Amino acid sequence: MPDAFTSSEDRAAFIAGLPKAELHLHIEGSLEPELMFTLARRNHVAIPFASVEEVRAAYAFSNLQDFLDIYYQGMGVLHTEQDFHDLTIAYCARASADNVRHVEIFFDPQGHTERGIAFETVIRGITRALDDASARYGISSKLIMCFLRHLSEADAEATLDAALPYLGRIDGVGLDSSEVGHPPAKFERVFARARALGLKIVAHAGEEGPPAYVHEALDLLKVDRIDHGNRSLEDPALVARLAGEAMCLTVCPLSNLKLCVVDDLAAHPLRTMLDAGLIATINSDDPSYFGGYVNANYRAVADALDLSRAELVTLARNSFTGSFLGEADKVRHLAAIDAYA
Ligand code: HPA
Ligand code: ZN
Repeated sequence: MPDAFTSSEDRAAFIAGLPKAELHLHIEGSLEPELMFTLARRNHVAIPFASVEEVRAAYAFSNLQDFLDIYYQGMGVLHTEQDFHDLTIAYCARASADNVRHVEIFFDPQGHTERGIAFETVIRGITRALDDASARYGISSKLIMCFLRHLSEADAEATLDAALPYLGRIDGVGLDSSEVGHPPAKFERVFARARALGLKIVAHAGEEGPPAYVHEALDLLKVDRIDHGNRSLEDPALVARLAGEAMCLTVCPLSNLKLCVVDDLAAHPLRTMLDAGLIATINSDDPSYFGGYVNANYRAVADALDLSRAELVTLARNSFTGSFLGEADKVRHLAAIDAYA
């Protein structure tokens, strides 16, 4: 099979058939405007939009905070266990259609508990949908509970307490929301407790924040993976360390474009990351808000950077090697990629 593609369609077809894992997906960020209207009606929640078109038109952001403001507002339509189920199964159907075989899903419990929704309601709806998705689509999953970094560490500790009865269904903890001004150091103690409980550790770092935040995520939180990590490239010693430790980065090209982390996908750092030996992966982050699911992210960045078959195969392989699957499952998925390629 030749390494270069003859057309964008040729590349899109190759991407569509490639087995993939998604490692950076906020389930609340997969809330499509149509479902937002359905749930607003079902739960008698007022939303400040008259139509699906108006919602989509509001999705123009100049930075992370612009997006977060509308993201927290959007999740206000989620009230019942069934709502969280419907949200999650809709995402799994979309992922499966993109030939995603394994997903590691973030959820933001504090975005719900602070509105009076019980932790139990959230986790029961999400996990029931993940079980349904396994049976229906053969898609496997891990669940990662994120702490909102604009809130206090005490609030994160209370959230970890609320999660204790459900640790059988929670595989890891993460750190998301407004990055600048809320460094990983703020959460050192709660992450140490999560680690002691046997949970995997991830953190958003280097999306808008400086390389020092990536260092803190490694040194203080002792992360197993870095979410985004783009700004690591400003620090050559950090790049060497990430490569040396085979640290996975969950990169999100369309998110980076929509949140103005990059001006243009042609200037996206993904190829530089691969060339530096970093374990980069492609993910959708908040697909409803940023304009595309996993395959759309692969297509957009691959077209912009003219990625080869070998590079796309590396990215798909990285998505499994960087996952929290066991070794036997990783080997099985990697063999499926090799058979396809
Ligand atoms: N960054 C930080 N917090 C988030 C994001 C993101 O891209 N998406 C949802 N919460
Ligand atoms: Zn994210």
